[in-house]
Amino acid sequence: MEQANLTQPAGPAPGAPTPDLPVRSGGRAVSVGGVLRKNGPGEAPGTQNSIFDVSGLKVFYGSFQAVAETTMQIREHEITALIGPSGCGKTTVLRCFNRMNDLIESARVEGTIRYHGVDIYGDQVDPVEVRRRIGMVFQKPNPFPKSIYDNIAFGPRIAGFKGNMDDLVEESLTRAALWDEVRDKLKESAYALSGGQQQRLCIARAIATSPDVLLMDEPCSSLDPIATLRIEELMIELKRDYSIIIVTHNMQQAARVSDRTAFFTVDVKETGMRTGRLVEFDTTDVIFTRPHQKQTEDYITGRFG
Ligand SMILES: Nc1ncnc2c1ncn2[C@@H]1O[C@H](COP(=O)(O)OP(=O)(O)OP(=O)(O)O)[C@@H](O)[C@H]1O
Ligand SMILES: [Mg+2]
Repeated sequence: MEQANLTQPAGPAPGAPTPDLPVRSGGRAVSVGGVLRKNGPGEAPGTQNSIFDVSGLKVFYGSFQAVAETTMQIREHEITALIGPSGCGKTTVLRCFNRMNDLIESARVEGTIRYHGVDIYGDQVDPVEVRRRIGMVFQKPNPFPKSIYDNIAFGPRIAGFKGNMDDLVEESLTRAALWDEVRDKLKESAYALSGGQQQRLCIARAIATSPDVLLMDEPCSSLDPIATLRIEELMIELKRDYSIIIVTHNMQQAARVSDRTAFFTVDVKETGMRTGRLVEFDTTDVIFTRPHQKQTEDYITGRFG
């Protein structure tokens, strides 16, 4: 497996330990400000198939604890679904995986998230590099006010991509199952696309910088059933090269696309504080057909939330 150094551009002092975060092993690996090098033989045992090891994660907004201690392991080349009632912390947890919570002033994260064995909250890890490796697709399609072509080319240009941009744009749009629909209007505004097309454009934009992981926060909530199905097919196609974590309120969607499902709920304390808690994390089959926890069963059968 190849690895990438995710330290800040200036880099640590010579000889200092450097957190090397790997990029995906298959396909094109673009070094975006980092140094790619071959993995050493010392890859931590037991992490071969696990892309994220979450241990004792707690998230606070000021003094409010939004997420109770969470420990879970996310596997490579799988689709992991995060489900649960509104306010249980799905988006908050999702944002921890690429340090998006850093951008919220009141947010504080405790515990560790190891990405291929490296703590992404470590002192020497550059959050910008983390977000290049771990891309995000939001609930509402959010194309830039630019042409279709420039939406895709924007990230790679900033990252100093030196290859053939036309090829990269075509490849990204093809992988996001949008190329055939837009190949003749690449210079037109992204806003001229339908909602479903815009969401696929955002997926194409996210994969253009060769991330390793895609985080998706309710990516289909504003789409019709046909566009939703296209995105679901696309996710299944993409998991060959990427690991995907998706937040969804759509039970059928979680059951259809995901390999593993994490069910969160909200505990209400006497003080009225509502803290999200991971109830059960298992294969999607187990969660939807024979969950171990009654709270999970109540939720998936519609008796709660
Ligand atoms: N930026 C923020 N500042 C303060 N509190 C926040 C912030 N974002 C979320 N919260 C709070 O954290 C808790 C979890 O919110 P989060 O958005 O993660 O829930 P969710 O499970 O994604 O809900 P939904 O299904 O409605 O999207 C909620 O009580 C919410 O009010
Ligand atoms: Mg949310």
